[in-house]
Amino acid sequence: MKFNIKSDLIHDISADIIILAVDDKNQIIQRPKIPAATLSLLSKIVNGNDLKQEVGSVTVVHGDITFNRVMLVRTGSAKQFDAEALIKIVGRVSNTISSLNVKKVLLPIEQFFNEHICANAGTEFIVRELINSSYVVNSLKTSKKPTPNIQTIIQYKGEALKEVKSGMLHGSAVADGANLTKDLGNLPPNICTPTYLANIAKDIAKRHGMKAKIFDKKQIEQLKMGSFLSVAKGSREAPKFITIEHNLGPKKQKPIILVGKGITFDAGGISIKPSPDMDEMKYDMGGAASVLGVMETIGILKLPINIVALIPSCENLPDGLALKPGDIVTSMSGQTIEVLNTDAEGRLILCDALTYAERYNPEVVIDVATLTGACVIALGHHATAIFSNHDPLADELKAASNISLDKAWHMPLWKEYEPQLNSNFADMANIGGRPAGSITAACFLSKFAKKYHWAHLDIAGTAWKSGKDKGSTGRPVPMLSQFLIKRSGLKK
Ligand code: BES
Ligand code: MN
Ligand code: ZN
Repeated sequence: MKFNIKSDLIHDISADIIILAVDDKNQIIQRPKIPAATLSLLSKIVNGNDLKQEVGSVTVVHGDITFNRVMLVRTGSAKQFDAEALIKIVGRVSNTISSLNVKKVLLPIEQFFNEHICANAGTEFIVRELINSSYVVNSLKTSKKPTPNIQTIIQYKGEALKEVKSGMLHGSAVADGANLTKDLGNLPPNICTPTYLANIAKDIAKRHGMKAKIFDKKQIEQLKMGSFLSVAKGSREAPKFITIEHNLGPKKQKPIILVGKGITFDAGGISIKPSPDMDEMKYDMGGAASVLGVMETIGILKLPINIVALIPSCENLPDGLALKPGDIVTSMSGQTIEVLNTDAEGRLILCDALTYAERYNPEVVIDVATLTGACVIALGHHATAIFSNHDPLADELKAASNISLDKAWHMPLWKEYEPQLNSNFADMANIGGRPAGSITAACFLSKFAKKYHWAHLDIAGTAWKSGKDKGSTGRPVPMLSQFLIKRSGLKK
């Protein structure tokens, strides 16, 4: 989907369809800018109850004098709809556009601004959601539908043109990053392997002037990442440790490090998972995919800040040489881990990446992982769980989540949970029993993140949708992008 901004009068712009918002009193919000004859025709349609009252309801009208087609969309009270309602409205508009045979869409954007939605955020949400909801799965079906090539003209003739422009830029950068994340999450595990992720990382780096460095198995051995390698042992797919450096900040600025769990298939290992829905464990690289998506976004925006992506990536499979329950492994930090369940592998690969992060002397480290089923039990599919060893960092992430409408919730990381990880034979066990499973997983990681401010995002519930529309969601790219954009000083 392509976007451009025009400041001409509405009726001077030619398009296949124009989008017009209608409030709860059947008034067309944009009415002062619409020619009288058109307005009277549209009023008849609205007053004839063709447009349902429910917010987001849509009806399409053909053959008016001024516009080829008009899409009317219900916003409810013009003054009161908020950003969440706006996203719903735009989602419905976008679905309707996709079902029509139109190429050029005219979107007067001011009708969607009010006390709650400023020109900048409003444009950002609208553009983001138009791209997000027109996403087509990169499916491997032989009869593939062509992706529609739609151009949206944002019409705006007001004081805040600068804000509208930057909203459009940010909205499309975030959505493009999230779509890259979705593409990776949706790919099958026989295609999206650690090597595939490494190639995507190289491609992102090449397109945006970043530095990618990929460590192969030998080099990972040299780094002494014994915990990471213990998971990779059961698979014939080569493990990769992927790094990308984006250095557009001041030379001496400490980097923000993003660490993504890159398990490209999680069968559980010897502690094998049950068969139903095991296919979905191809998205166990959702953390890695979202870190790559964020790198795409910051690359497009050329954020003036230093950011490093670290992705440990391998498969978790059962095999004659695989990691066994009872094995004790030595992590890169030197701490020993008794593996009581090989299905708790995410923390085993992340802990070494967290230790590796120390060599950057980071400002903060944020890891992103589809880490625990327990997180889905705690928060369902609505919110990402935030854990942190530094409350202000958790607050900052929560604020970024609120602003970007990418829900997250701050979970406790109290020392009371720590004894659950005690082991009789090693420095710690890799599981902490059933109570508070997502918290003990975070506790485990915290033992490797003592030297810096750190946050852990458990996205097991939010990175993926199950059921009829199963697929990757692109989360938490909006939240992380917002966090970084704000840190870069590009936006308040
Ligand atoms: N990748 C899974 C977590 C997961 C489960 C993500 C469901 C998305 C949906 C992780 O590696 C795992 O298997 N965790 C175990 C940990 C347990 C053995 C302590 C789990 O959650 O069951
Ligand atoms: Mn697992
Ligand atoms: Zn896993």
